[in-house]
Amino acid sequence: MAVLLKPEQNTTDLSDADIAQAQAEYWELFTSTETTPRGVWDTENLDQVRFRQIDSSYIEIADFFLSDGTLEGFKRTGLGVITAVNASECVKYLLSFPGQVLPWHAHISVAVAPKGFAIPNGFRNLSDLVPGFQGDPDYGADAMYFVPKDFEKRANFDLKPEWKEQGVAYLQGKEETFTVLAGTLEAYGPGDGVAASQMPEDHRQFVTQRSFDLRPGDSFHIPCNRPHLCIGGPAGCVYLESSTRSRDCLDYFFNKDIYRLK
Ligand SMILES: [Fe+2]
Repeated sequence: MAVLLKPEQNTTDLSDADIAQAQAEYWELFTSTETTPRGVWDTENLDQVRFRQIDSSYIEIADFFLSDGTLEGFKRTGLGVITAVNASECVKYLLSFPGQVLPWHAHISVAVAPKGFAIPNGFRNLSDLVPGFQGDPDYGADAMYFVPKDFEKRANFDLKPEWKEQGVAYLQGKEETFTVLAGTLEAYGPGDGVAASQMPEDHRQFVTQRSFDLRPGDSFHIPCNRPHLCIGGPAGCVYLESSTRSRDCLDYFFNKDIYRLK
């Protein structure tokens, strides 16, 4: 169980000065809300209860390597994240600048098998789908990870009994709910209504999509495997993400220029 994590590694090409600037501007957005969260009570050990106060250094800067290494580029595509709780359930504060895009992605359910397991028909090796994939920390890089070829169209899949006998495990994709605290957010999912040409450049992976306008107090639930993209509204957005367990390495991004690791 981990409460209030400072980012170990910012997933960005930005310089340290630009990261500090982005954190300062996000902090201004975060603290401008009427009910700025102050921090988290850590009650894991009841004899050593601690209140951990949030400051700007807790903001993880993620540009998905699409910022061209500039602050302007980051303000077009990226996300600020404060991880409040990272356990079997997770709570994060997400921060978006005005017009800033969190690119299309899905939190996918994956089967993981011992090394040498033959990928079944109708499934794909995750290494072919996710550039830079190095395995889940719990199962390692040598294990075989596979998903249905049409994973984005289905919520889950079943492991065959004979796979289980061979040690195949099932990693359930993350299910998350966004709740807007301040500002507004445009969320997108599969469906009709918005043509690709209306989407920001670099984010036209789907021919049409359905849009959802989220205002303070609105919640938006995203099942596992469901593609989604978010754009900060005109005044930016501060929103809460509550989710099942996070396994960042199993996040699938639809833009092929996005690398999990560089
Ligand atoms: Fe997500």
